[in-house]
Amino acid sequence: MQRFHPVRPLLAGTLLAALCLMPSAALTAAPRQEQTAPHQEQAAPRQEQSVPLQELAAYQNASARLSALGFDKERADVLWSRVGPGLADKLDSGELSRPALEYLALSYCHTDRLERYLAYGQANPALTAAEVVTWVNIGLDAPFYTGVQEIEDPDALDVLVNKYYVLPSDYAPELVRLGAQYGSGSLAPAAAEAFAAMADAARADGISLRSVSAYRSYQTQTGLYQRYTRQNGQALADTFSARPGHSEHQTGLALDINTARIPAHFERTPAYAWLQEHCARFGFLLRYPQDKTAITGYCFEPWHYRYVGQEIASACMEGGLTYEEYLARRPVPGEYSVPVLAGWGAVGNEADRRLLYVPGPGALFTVAG
Ligand code: DAL
Ligand code: ZN
Repeated sequence: MQRFHPVRPLLAGTLLAALCLMPSAALTAAPRQEQTAPHQEQAAPRQEQSVPLQELAAYQNASARLSALGFDKERADVLWSRVGPGLADKLDSGELSRPALEYLALSYCHTDRLERYLAYGQANPALTAAEVVTWVNIGLDAPFYTGVQEIEDPDALDVLVNKYYVLPSDYAPELVRLGAQYGSGSLAPAAAEAFAAMADAARADGISLRSVSAYRSYQTQTGLYQRYTRQNGQALADTFSARPGHSEHQTGLALDINTARIPAHFERTPAYAWLQEHCARFGFLLRYPQDKTAITGYCFEPWHYRYVGQEIASACMEGGLTYEEYLARRPVPGEYSVPVLAGWGAVGNEADRRLLYVPGPGALFTVAG
């Protein structure tokens, strides 16, 4: 009868090195009962699982190298998830440059964009790796209004409309009129309801919030943009007016509050301060913030708010992110799963010693020795 020896923690790396020297080592899944008497086991049939030992060793190897290069476990794991078991070899061969490693270690890196990140990083050496990846994800490595893609789901609450994504010219959302006390125009139902709730809350705080421009059709935007272009020239008009199909106002999810004029300095008003503090609670975000014109392509519009729902609005407003940055930083799952090294130990008696790997709660893997 085997006697269970309490698991004795060992250094995973040491053990892996030893395991890798055992050519016939087979790692199989075992239930916890096996700790006492595997041959008496009457439990339900269990799955035999092979644990790829070589992969564990490769992971351990790559992690150690990345740690020496200053990558913490979180970043090293993201890198592994993108490169997989070949990671250590690629580190050795120099196939992955330092900038490439920095980009691939970001949770929102798209591996198929690596060449673009590398080119953009080289052209903009002052940018951090996070900025390079974010900006390329937004599309900023190409000029505004190039490579424009038509939006597939214009009704989505989180739809992104900007200088790279255009709405179909015939798209019009479902609309409801704002009540007279909320100003002019119409919005999509969810946005209209949220704006009314926000304006009511503001009024209770002594602040008046009124829509001065809400939904605008493709045709209305065409007229506006043409007028601004005639008056100011296209380059200047592009800094404050969206080309037809590129305006959020066409979604029915955006509106201008109290003014839409730069000289009115809405950003100096108590209403703006109130919105900064409270708009996210009602699902709105400031769409064109100050100092973000290189990202949004528009000058500061303290009056323009976009309904996206509370969760996204809070993430943007609290994180100081434009909607573009928020979307560009959504995590992208890697192709390879990361081995979970929860612990190693030994089990069995002196004659029949087994090595035990605990990959996570509730699972034991033994190595027949
Ligand atoms: N003023 C904003 C950018 C628009 O025209 O939609
Ligand atoms: Zn606007």
